[in-house]
Amino acid sequence: MKVIDHKQPVSQVDNSLFSTDSIKKDFPILERKINGHKLVYLDNAATTQKPQSVIDAISSYYTGFNANVHRGLHTLAEEATSAMERTREKTAAFIGGVKMEEIIFTRNATESINMVATSWGKKNIKQGDRIVITQMEHHANLVPWIMLAKETGAELGYIPIDKNGYLDLSDINKIINPQTKVVALTHMSNVLGTINPVEEIIELAHKNNAYVLVDGAQSAPHLPINVKALDADFYVFSAHKMLGPTGVGVLYAKEEILNDMEPVIFGGEMISHVTFENADWAELPMKHEAGTPNIADIVAFAPALDYLTNIGMDKIRQHEIEITSYGMEELKKLDYIRIFGPDNPLDRGGVISFVDNKIHPHDLAQFLDSKGVAIRAGHHCAQPLVKLLGVPSTARASFYIYNTKDEVDKLVEALKEARRYFVNG
Ligand SMILES: Cc1ncc(COP(=O)(O)O)c(C=O)c1O
Repeated sequence: MKVIDHKQPVSQVDNSLFSTDSIKKDFPILERKINGHKLVYLDNAATTQKPQSVIDAISSYYTGFNANVHRGLHTLAEEATSAMERTREKTAAFIGGVKMEEIIFTRNATESINMVATSWGKKNIKQGDRIVITQMEHHANLVPWIMLAKETGAELGYIPIDKNGYLDLSDINKIINPQTKVVALTHMSNVLGTINPVEEIIELAHKNNAYVLVDGAQSAPHLPINVKALDADFYVFSAHKMLGPTGVGVLYAKEEILNDMEPVIFGGEMISHVTFENADWAELPMKHEAGTPNIADIVAFAPALDYLTNIGMDKIRQHEIEITSYGMEELKKLDYIRIFGPDNPLDRGGVISFVDNKIHPHDLAQFLDSKGVAIRAGHHCAQPLVKLLGVPSTARASFYIYNTKDEVDKLVEALKEARRYFVNG
């Protein structure tokens, strides 16, 4: 079943409404000079920069309607509550028109996954059951399942990757079997860039009566998402990777699952009735949102969603295909650079991990910083995967809506200079 076509040829892209130049003007930080050079920000898989509308929304909240939510009866409390709930409404629409009750605000994707593993996991997983993940998971979608398996005595199975950085599905019918109770996988790898065939895997998991958690930390910012069409049971992501503020995560789960899940944090806001002996839970989504939430940042996530929606996620995807194709072509011209992940840019997001055969990624990242180019170097919170790739760490350039081919050229030029400095100097 094909749900979303990520592979529309670049030639069909209408770029008429997508001027990177005018987009850049909305991001004040992109005016910064780093070490005397205009910032080239290529660390978007870690976190993206924020448009002025998001920055202003935080300030407007504190200057205009700061109050606690869901409990006050005064004007400010009503305004704060309705602004926060507007973000919930926009978030629900952004991932395919789910119910507002199905959107739980957390601190980040990591917390969302931990909630599922702790609450749903402990209730539904027992000894002899099988938890399936993949070899390309971020630690956020790996460690909680390792802990759950240890605690419950369940078995942990892995979908392997092949040498080209795709999931190897040749044994998938053995890996996802009737013992499998949950499959948790990333939609898009933060290291390899690979976009995984989640539709196919969800279909197979459901045939085995297993639930599926999709880690959307790298897909929600970059691809059009429809969790209903995917039929994902859980879908998680972080606002800060999609123009929004830090400190806001999303846990989407089907209503019946959220109703069945016990809260993992107890206290104010999440109860309906409390006695000295007992407590009942509030309705969704409050039941899973104990305590005062990160109101300011949740409110300021709304303009981030608006910004992405106004551009259009299809166009964002096309822009990233274009810039990633260009980046890969240019990097391939340097015979000392090895790129990881699928060769076909249509199968990957805007992430290129690579190594120089003579320069350590950390040295490379530091040298690039001296030229104003910000990339990431390390294991990218995916130590087992990077070990599988046979390297201690990689350099990673990751793109977003404001990046240009010109900036790719600056990256490549800086890599050549690094070579002259470290190797041929
Ligand atoms: C694929 C993937 N999953 C999960 C996470 C965790 O996101 P956060 O740190 O916002 O919880 C990341 C962050 O890089 C990621 O790339």
